[in-house]
Amino acid sequence: MTTLTQALDAWVPAAARRLDGVRAEPRFEFVGRIVSVGDGIARVSGLPETRADELLLFPGGVAGLAVDLDGEIGCILLGEDRHLSAGAPVHGTGAVVRVPVGDALMGRVLDPLGQPLDEGAPVAAERFEPVERPAPSIADRAAVTEPLLTGTAIIDALFPLGRGQRELLIGDRAVGKTSIAVDAILNQRDGDVFCVYAAIGQKASGVREVIEAVRRGGALGRTLFVVAPADAPPGLQWLAPYTAFTMAEHFRDSGRHALVIVDDLTKHAAVHRQLSLLLRRPPGREAYPGDVFCLHSRLLERAAKLSPARGGGSLTALPIAETQAGNLSAYIPTNLISITDGQVYLDAKLFHEGQKPAVDVGRSVSRVGGKAQPPELRALAEPLRLQYAQFLELEVFTRFGGMVDEKTRAAVAHGQRMRALLAQRHSNPQPLALQVAQLTALSDGTLDRLPVEAVPRFRSALAALLETRPDPDLKALMREAAAGLGGS
Ligand SMILES: Nc1ncnc2c1ncn2[C@@H]1O[C@H](COP(=O)(O)OP(=O)(O)OP(=O)(O)O)[C@@H](O)[C@H]1O
Ligand SMILES: [Mg+2]
Repeated sequence: MTTLTQALDAWVPAAARRLDGVRAEPRFEFVGRIVSVGDGIARVSGLPETRADELLLFPGGVAGLAVDLDGEIGCILLGEDRHLSAGAPVHGTGAVVRVPVGDALMGRVLDPLGQPLDEGAPVAAERFEPVERPAPSIADRAAVTEPLLTGTAIIDALFPLGRGQRELLIGDRAVGKTSIAVDAILNQRDGDVFCVYAAIGQKASGVREVIEAVRRGGALGRTLFVVAPADAPPGLQWLAPYTAFTMAEHFRDSGRHALVIVDDLTKHAAVHRQLSLLLRRPPGREAYPGDVFCLHSRLLERAAKLSPARGGGSLTALPIAETQAGNLSAYIPTNLISITDGQVYLDAKLFHEGQKPAVDVGRSVSRVGGKAQPPELRALAEPLRLQYAQFLELEVFTRFGGMVDEKTRAAVAHGQRMRALLAQRHSNPQPLALQVAQLTALSDGTLDRLPVEAVPRFRSALAALLETRPDPDLKALMREAAAGLGGS
């Protein structure tokens, strides 16, 4: 048996070897103290060399972000503050917050610091990148011209998205915002776009449903979830969109394509307001601090289509915002509308009337538009917006039962079929071929010969036929799909 002396004899030379070359010399280290802590923030003194956005370390491995540097340091805590108390030591790191990035993150559910929430192994990071990064410069960008199909027919036809675009999904609560975003993820299943979904301040059960929907739709392998639910420390909820962008930029910067969904920026703004008020920053309109516009525009500017010299990758952003009683002129909605390249507005009234997805055609816009639409879809979709807007007006007019001429009656009947065609269940993204085929049926008059109620069945028949025939003769297909549906 080894005695203690023998063990020490063996250990001392080994330890001495390990210490060879290490020069023991005194060095300065500033150790700060917590002055006050609570509600997700801490005030710290005694760290004079701290720089803005520096990561500070608190006892128990809790990290904090130094955001205010005048006098005492105002610090957003990126972890639980329950076990911290005034007087506890704080160490500076000289580093900013970095999170893991890499292909291996796909399919994972992570917190905003990159820690797994899915009970899987620790993430295999290719690199660690800062969460706050500058947006690509003008010279590094190219025009947005490649389509990013969302699988939601009304969006792809009327408000098409391009790779590198920022399109806001906005509407009251529970009008199908998240469902459209999930469909956009599902539609990338067999494509080349990687998806990052950031959930901010949502109920854990809601996030679980989204993850389940993506799993059922077979797109989990292409999707990464960054989750800070409602009960997470406010600092983590605040960090989530930055982490999501950094993780998505990995694909943009390696010449590939990514889609980032932020669900939602209204909650992010509310967390930012909460932290700012606690940090005693002066409140402005609706008590938001003055920098909330800059905060979101800096974030969304990171979405871009890169020039060929920079690899030609893209990052498309689909931020979500919630309105109160359809009020688009509230502070955060107007800010976000002016920052993004268009918005899809979901209307609560339409939703409750059963028109789903409840896209309000008059108040939605895509400023990149047709340039980024597949040509076969563009040709069919171009006249739709005007036709649809005219139909909505005519419909109101004819609802009173007044006498209408044959032309008006036909336009209303056509519009009703268009509306039936653009209605769509969630978790059911439509492939491009189906979208093109059904819009062909609309424009060539096939649908006008069918009763409105038959439109959903016509679409199902068309979808089934398209699955068996990859390169179809569209005319024959229309006839077959319409057969037996009571057409005239
Ligand atoms: N196209 C659709 N067809 C039928 N039902 C739908 C459709 N889109 C959404 N729904 C249903 O409407 C409900 C609300 O949808 P969703 O959660 O996407 O809305 P939301 O605007 O994200 O809500 P929240 O404000 O709570 O985040 C869900 O139960 C969903 O199943
Ligand atoms: Mg939602």
